[in-house]
Amino acid sequence: MTGRLGILTAMPEEAAALLDSFGPGADRIEHGRRVYTVGTLWGVDVVVVVARCGKVAAATTATELIVRFGVDHVICTGVAGGLGEGVSIGDVVVADRLVQHDLDARPLWPRHVVPLLEERFFATDPAWTDRIERAAKEFVSGGERVHRGLIASGDQFIHGPVMGRAVLDTLPGALCAEMEGAAVAQVCSEYGVGCAVFRAISDRADADAPADFGRSLGSLAASHTRGILSRALRG
Ligand code: ADE
Repeated sequence: MTGRLGILTAMPEEAAALLDSFGPGADRIEHGRRVYTVGTLWGVDVVVVVARCGKVAAATTATELIVRFGVDHVICTGVAGGLGEGVSIGDVVVADRLVQHDLDARPLWPRHVVPLLEERFFATDPAWTDRIERAAKEFVSGGERVHRGLIASGDQFIHGPVMGRAVLDTLPGALCAEMEGAAVAQVCSEYGVGCAVFRAISDRADADAPADFGRSLGSLAASHTRGILSRALRG
């Protein structure tokens, strides 16, 4: 199904459980103030990297994964703030397409359209997205749900009704907000590489978001990322 897979997170906590799963043969390569860990996870040749937060960091790192490390798919994962109705803390959102909610070159281009590419939504790789959705459904327990749909990315931590509403007013279908996925999806689209994005919901992008995010990061991000990817890679 795949040659080499890139796995990108924004925060160290989101990659920690994956990095702990490598055997002793993995290589750590430092480049551009990031560490790329190259090795095998659950039988798949992978490169895992912490990009740091935001679209610039994510786009740069995705480009390096493709050009320098030769990955043919990129998976972006970590946590996100739930926006859609019924998207609760502990749920999983699997993107079928992504958009930059803060991209606005009006009046020259319509809102959310990437100038000169003339695209607004970037689709994920259907095969990897199906595989991750299956793995997530196997993994979640109790009342946690798996949602599939639109993820909105931007260089903002959404933490209150005004910010949340501003995203939903223009993108009513957005299930959650995060800060990297659409940048990774755009780079992958431009380079002709498949991309998948899934997120564990750490907060509701509301006034409690900073505290909920802090609480969820260490626990939920690590458990969901490893739990879902281990199943998807064995797939
Ligand atoms: N990542 C996790 N929670 C988020 C939020 N509320 N806004 C943006 N990115 C997030």
